[in-house]
Amino acid sequence: MKVLVLGASGFIGLPVCQALCRAGHIVYGFTRSSEKAKQLEAEEIIPIVGEYDNTEPWVSLVSTIDAVIDTVGGRADLRTLTMLLFRAVREAAQTHRGAYAPKLTYIATSGTWVHGDNRSEVVSDTTPITNPVEAVAWRPAVEQEIISDSVLNGMVIRPGLLYGRSGSLLAPLFQSTRETGKVVWYGKPGGRYNLVHCDDLADLYVRAVEKGLLVGGKIFDVANPQTESVDDFLQKLVEVSGVKGPYEYIEASNAYEVALGTTTLLRPYLGRALLDWVPRKAGLIDGLPIYYAAWLAAQ
Ligand SMILES: *[C@@H]1O[C@H](CO)[C@@H](O)[C@H](O)[C@H]1NC(C)=O
Repeated sequence: MKVLVLGASGFIGLPVCQALCRAGHIVYGFTRSSEKAKQLEAEEIIPIVGEYDNTEPWVSLVSTIDAVIDTVGGRADLRTLTMLLFRAVREAAQTHRGAYAPKLTYIATSGTWVHGDNRSEVVSDTTPITNPVEAVAWRPAVEQEIISDSVLNGMVIRPGLLYGRSGSLLAPLFQSTRETGKVVWYGKPGGRYNLVHCDDLADLYVRAVEKGLLVGGKIFDVANPQTESVDDFLQKLVEVSGVKGPYEYIEASNAYEVALGTTTLLRPYLGRALLDWVPRKAGLIDGLPIYYAAWLAAQ
């Protein structure tokens, strides 16, 4: 397959590109930085450099490729950007793919925060979304627009809280632990995280893109089968980092910090049932000595 990955040098995008390459696919990686483009090229990923609002450098590929994956994240204008990218690909597919071309597969990235904060109710991929956390309240409508599109073969992947490598959303916690000698994090005692390692997540993207024509229109929650205690995680971080305990919780001061304290008792099943996906990595707590060391080494 030929696959275009948007956000190719990001925390999700890079492992996805690498996994697609290892699976034998031709991978185009769109990135904004020419320095990162060089790193992509060294990984056998064909780099395309540009700005997101100028779709011209990459959109011409749409006439010949099989799939587009949007892994762009971590931006204030993410809602606008998500729709801009989706609509640009949609329009290009409509204009430049011949009348008999198969639908172009389009995979968008959401997140499990759309399930909302609830410490008692267990949910799965197909549980109706009723109360998303405020920071991502825009996502459910966008998810629906993408999976029900008539031009593109749309699909949505919702990763749980990511861990491994450079740390993703947990990196600021590791950073502040090292700088202040204390483990301080958002939330309240008794919370639980649904989690997934970035390499396991990448494996799911590969499976989803390869089976795209069978699983279009689906939304996959992607997390380990068991949630983990946030209290246990913070205690383990005290031990692994060698700082002085005990860990502490602080009050969130914005919607993003509130989201970091979200508990979703997620039991995903669709990735396993439809894509034979099984996560292989050690959990966050069991593997923390390795994950914390990896974050340190990445600094
Ligand atoms: C959790 O979900 C259940 C079932 O939907 C609901 O009855 C309950 O009010 C929710 N709890 C919170 C704290 O939102």
